[in-house]
Amino acid sequence: MQKKYAAITGVAGYVPDDILSNTDLERMVDTTDEWITSRTGIKERRILRQPGLGSSDMGAPAVKSLLEKTGTDPDEIDMVICSTVTPDMQFPATASIICDKVGIRNSFNFDLAAACSGFIYMLTTASKFIETGSAKKIICVGADKMSSITNYQDRTTCALFGDGAGAILLEASTEYGVQDHILRGDPAGRKYLYQKAGGSVYPASHETVEAREHFVYQEGQAVYKVAVSKMADISVEMMEKHNIASDDLDWLVPHQANLRIIEAVARRMGIRKEQVLINIQKYGNTTNATIPLCLWEFENQLHKGDKIILTAFGGGFTWGAIYLTWAYDSK
Ligand code: UT7
Repeated sequence: MQKKYAAITGVAGYVPDDILSNTDLERMVDTTDEWITSRTGIKERRILRQPGLGSSDMGAPAVKSLLEKTGTDPDEIDMVICSTVTPDMQFPATASIICDKVGIRNSFNFDLAAACSGFIYMLTTASKFIETGSAKKIICVGADKMSSITNYQDRTTCALFGDGAGAILLEASTEYGVQDHILRGDPAGRKYLYQKAGGSVYPASHETVEAREHFVYQEGQAVYKVAVSKMADISVEMMEKHNIASDDLDWLVPHQANLRIIEAVARRMGIRKEQVLINIQKYGNTTNATIPLCLWEFENQLHKGDKIILTAFGGGFTWGAIYLTWAYDSK
């Protein structure tokens, strides 16, 4: 039997309209546009401000637009995964809430949590269902309302994050799609990047709220060093494994956490900046949405057969790389 690859056959995204600029942040904490721009590459980020809205309210419009642009009937979808660190609620899964909002009724749905590497872990998981033939059409949606866990009194983290969602449709192809994946983790890293309260160890209480423990905690420098080396090493490992020379790679799509990290990874891979998809300046770190938002934004520049490496690093620590070939020319 001919081998099946899990091919991305459509991509869509959604970001809220409200912009939080570096100038806005200058009025909120002791920071400057110059510091944020030079240390992170971020100029602005989107914020889902309206009360009562959550990650599904960005994931659902992204999925709805994906169904429309690919001409897919919601009843054809076999499976929906949502990777997120900011689920609407502990349960049910945000994937189920998204399905309800867009009218997907015949799929099984679950959330996947691997911090900023969630999209890579999710795409790898989903690709197995396509490769084995047990699902024909899968939607993977990365959605995060990072503003709900960002401490806007902490200048070391509040400039980094933004809200958004990106979704892809996966279908079988005999030629294009996910060729390989390498996923790794190091639990020793869990102390450098986490949200302390809100889980079963420290459920919400007056004390946890007063101590501002429901927000992202990050030791930036410790994360930075490992992020650069792990994303670069794993991407180079993937290139060597598949004999991809630097000039043969069409696109690197890195998780967008810091422009300096992205540039350092590209340098170590020996690729030019024209080969790297970057939109961090507009959206900041949207955690699970960075990679699909990049694919969505640059979709018109991607061509059938393009060789692409996706790579991400995040809390846990988790990291990984996927090598895929692009399956279509956008119309
Ligand atoms: O997506 C998941 C994975 N996450 C990442 O990959 C993020 C990795 N880390 C980073 O991107 C960087 O470490 C940060 C952007 C978070 C920080 O940049 P940095 O160059 O590592 O700065 P730093 O933490 O070493 O801080 C340098 C200085 C400090 O002041 P002192 O101690 O030198 O006086 C900070 O207090 O910059 C200060 N600082 C700020 N100053 C103005 C920290 N944040 C700010 C700020 N504005 N917003």
